[in-house]
Amino acid sequence: MASSSHMAKWLSLLLLFLLLTAINVFAELKIGFYNKTCPAAEQLVQQTVAAAFANDSTVAPGLIRMHFHDCFVRGCDGSVLLDSTPGNKSEKEAAPNNPSLHGFDVIDAAKSAVESACPGTVSCADVLAFAARDCAALAGNVSYKVPSGRRDGRVSLESEALSNLPAPTFNSSQLIANFAAKNLTAEEMVVLSGAHTIGVSHCGAFTNRLYNSSGGSAVDPTLSPAYASLLQDRCPANSTLSTPIVAALDLLTPQVLDNKYYVGLRLTLGLLTSDQALLTDPTLKAEVDDNAERPGGWATKFKRAMVKMGEIQVLTGTQGEIRKNCHVVNSATGSVLEFGLSASL
Ligand code: HEM
Ligand SMILES: *[C@@H]1O[C@H](CO)[C@@H](O)[C@H](O)[C@H]1NC(C)=O
Ligand SMILES: *[C@@H]1O[C@H](CO)[C@@H](O)[C@H](O)[C@H]1NC(C)=O
Ligand SMILES: *[C@@H]1O[C@H](CO)[C@@H](O)[C@H](O)[C@H]1NC(C)=O
Ligand SMILES: *[C@@H]1O[C@H](CO)[C@@H](O)[C@H](O)[C@H]1NC(C)=O
Ligand SMILES: *[C@@H]1O[C@H](CO)[C@@H](O)[C@H](O)[C@H]1NC(C)=O
Ligand SMILES: *[C@@H]1O[C@H](CO)[C@@H](O)[C@H](O)[C@H]1NC(C)=O
Ligand SMILES: *[C@@H]1O[C@H](CO)[C@@H](O)[C@H](O)[C@H]1NC(C)=O
Ligand SMILES: *[C@@H]1O[C@H](CO)[C@@H](O)[C@H](O)[C@H]1NC(C)=O
Repeated sequence: MASSSHMAKWLSLLLLFLLLTAINVFAELKIGFYNKTCPAAEQLVQQTVAAAFANDSTVAPGLIRMHFHDCFVRGCDGSVLLDSTPGNKSEKEAAPNNPSLHGFDVIDAAKSAVESACPGTVSCADVLAFAARDCAALAGNVSYKVPSGRRDGRVSLESEALSNLPAPTFNSSQLIANFAAKNLTAEEMVVLSGAHTIGVSHCGAFTNRLYNSSGGSAVDPTLSPAYASLLQDRCPANSTLSTPIVAALDLLTPQVLDNKYYVGLRLTLGLLTSDQALLTDPTLKAEVDDNAERPGGWATKFKRAMVKMGEIQVLTGTQGEIRKNCHVVNSATGSVLEFGLSASL
């Protein structure tokens, strides 16, 4: 008797487990998630990104940053790709994204390639995560496998981009807190900031270091005076984030994803307040030194941190949806409209 009631308990636990598994409560990202459902997915994204990069190498910094801005706002759910709707401005309209975020057309081309091969199967969030990985390989021989199975979110709000993305004027404690809110450590924050080894910034993001608030010259003492003088010639004091003048984030090797960003910081050549701030705290500085001195060490940590960043608050299993078009949510009213149209034809 005792053993059969034991058995019944065991069986009900097993049933509960099977039920929970069936509704994907335990779903998590997996390397090769599309092995069976869309085996060509990652290759199609890679080919699209490689072709775009061959034409215009700025897609690499553009898409690595886009993945970061996706993950820090509502998790890596493709919310950064959604267009505004009447009455709701989306993330891409927010000052940290507009007009600087770019490469949306490359994501559209990659999504369209995977949709042709396997309709309704590969999420926009995964396409972006794959594309960012491909950009790292193209710009710097930094390759890693991307666990996938992300689902797309249905909400994108300008205000959340503003409140979640770190500002270029942040100091060390603000940067640490901003990344801690996403469960990333201070060391991972320094390692990921190394993405600033490629790409550019608009003048408006660093004129705070070149001029005082009344427009006079008062250079940030932690910025190389010679470099500051060059930057002053380039960037008028009234520059905004929309003024179409930019400067390289890594003066030493602006196009190569390598560890020279950290070497530049030690020479007071960091461009943003948030870059140079990595030297103002002993823990962060130790991480900068390690990355400056061990290129391979940084690359290994960068890959690991990119994978971890790519796992922030992901939607999996039956959560969210697989968007058909990365710019808009799959709308129930859309299919009613289609039905209405075809019914009236
Ligand atoms: C630590 C806090 C960070 C701050 C405050 C920050 C801020 C910025 C700013 C202001 C720009 C210039 C945008 C423009 O005006 O054109 C920029 C560019 C960039 N950021 Fe960050 N960022 C941070 C971390 C990261 C992380 C974690 C990544 C990726 C892993 C990243 C990747 C990039 C890339 C690749 C660019 C160049 C974009 C381009 O050339 O289009 N950043 N960042
Ligand atoms: C997909 O295939 C790769 C290569 O064989 C393997 O490493 C990976 O674990 C597979 N993933 C899944 C979810 O089947
Ligand atoms: C090539 O890059 C330029 C921008 O540098 C862009 O305007 C153009 O559309 C790209 N062409 C293709 C075929 O991707
Ligand atoms: C805007 O987005 C919020 C959050 O998803 C939603 O509750 C609200 O209904 C949306 N408003 C409009 C006008 O789309
Ligand atoms: C690329 O990186 C791998 C290890 O990550 C290394 O073995 C290889 O030599 C590198 N190739 C080049 C061209 O730098
Ligand atoms: C960073 O700025 C915040 C807000 O102004 C301030 O409270 C904090 O003390 C500053 N931290 C450092 C290390 O300067
Ligand atoms: C960080 O980790 C805590 C504890 O595991 C979890 O509750 C929280 O949702 C995580 N936050 C993010 C942004 O992933
Ligand atoms: C800031 O600019 C004003 C106006 O040009 C100037 O009078 C003042 O001396 C500057 N302050 C510093 C600290 O350089
Ligand atoms: C910004 O300043 C420059 C001179 O430095 C001037 O030519 C330009 O008209 C100003 N732009 C605005 C929008 O005030």
